[in-house]
Amino acid sequence: MKFAALALALVSAVSGYTLLNASNFEAETKDGIWLVKYYSPSCPWSRRFAPTWQKVYTDLQDGLGPKDIFFGEVDCKENRAICDAADIDGYPTVVHYNQGVNKGEVPGGQSYENLANYAQAL
Ligand SMILES: *[C@@H]1O[C@H](CO)[C@@H](O)[C@H](O)[C@H]1NC(C)=O
Repeated sequence: MKFAALALALVSAVSGYTLLNASNFEAETKDGIWLVKYYSPSCPWSRRFAPTWQKVYTDLQDGLGPKDIFFGEVDCKENRAICDAADIDGYPTVVHYNQGVNKGEVPGGQSYENLANYAQAL
């Protein structure tokens, strides 16, 4: 119930979901505000995180607000170089990008509450 109340409080809107890789990462993330999930399909924590991430995306998409937040994900097993460039040292990690600039990892970004609060403040 706490989460439902929080979801209703979200004011940001989400624009689309993109699977990012070496072909599109730079072109896609160079504009706008992005939350990018770095993960590995074989990592249990990544698998456990998937529904939480999905819920944050869905709840933001349902929200209304002036700001667009783009969501994307990078499979680090397939895209080692992108993950190394972002200094990813554990999975899953959510990184905030603004106009292509890495603004750092979302603190405690494996929890719905932390992610939702962070997104709301963007
Ligand atoms: C990136 O993903 C797109 C769409 O899934 C695919 O067409 C492209 O070949 C991929 N590029 C690389 C380098 O994996």
